[in-house]
Amino acid sequence: MKYNLSEITDLIKDRRTIYPEQYTSRQVQKEQVEKILNNAIWAPTHGNTQPWRFQVFMSEESREELSRLLGTLYVEKIPSEKQNSMKLAKIISRPLKSSVVVAIIMKRDETEKIAEIEEIEAVACAVQNMHLTCTAYGIGGFWATPKMINFTEFKDFLKIGEKDKCLGLFYMGYPDIEWPKAHRKPLEYVTEWK
Ligand SMILES: Cc1cc2nc3c(=O)[nH]c(=O)nc-3n(C[C@H](O)[C@H](O)[C@H](O)COP(=O)(O)O)c2cc1C
Repeated sequence: MKYNLSEITDLIKDRRTIYPEQYTSRQVQKEQVEKILNNAIWAPTHGNTQPWRFQVFMSEESREELSRLLGTLYVEKIPSEKQNSMKLAKIISRPLKSSVVVAIIMKRDETEKIAEIEEIEAVACAVQNMHLTCTAYGIGGFWATPKMINFTEFKDFLKIGEKDKCLGLFYMGYPDIEWPKAHRKPLEYVTEWK
């Protein structure tokens, strides 16, 4: 065995979504974010296009700006019958309650030699690497995909190209709750052996 499989399995199973409402004010350090993103970029990538891009909102100012934009877009662009004041409050407060927010971006390769879905899949693998690294630090992570990330105004805010996609916001912070437990269906429900 090349690595400690039991520890790796524990880490994979312990990776949990922990929401900003459950974070303390303890700061995640820049060196930790660097490590998290340095692990992210070792995800698989078809054709080595390395389509992941990250925008790190760490300063209070940048997180406030993000919060304001998400709130404004929610109020102005989501049909009023679908709006809900509790949801709006969460959308606004999440960047402020987090220590770090990373905008996850898929940069479309100019040659388009790889199918878009594969580029998205590569970035999703990068997010898993981020989340596992957070787990190793005891940092909570939450991959959020609010509708606003697809709006032109949001893409303009991130200054990303028309063919690029924001695949979500990854919130991070130290939890003030007991590390959550979860369950999965047993393997036999999802596997056919041929
Ligand atoms: C692509 C993707 C997008 C997600 N977007 C959201 C989201 O917008 N809101 C949310 O509450 N959870 C979101 N999640 C997190 C899931 O809710 C979470 O993974 C699920 O509840 C299982 O919990 P676990 O991550 O602790 O195993 C997303 C997960 C993935 C993979």
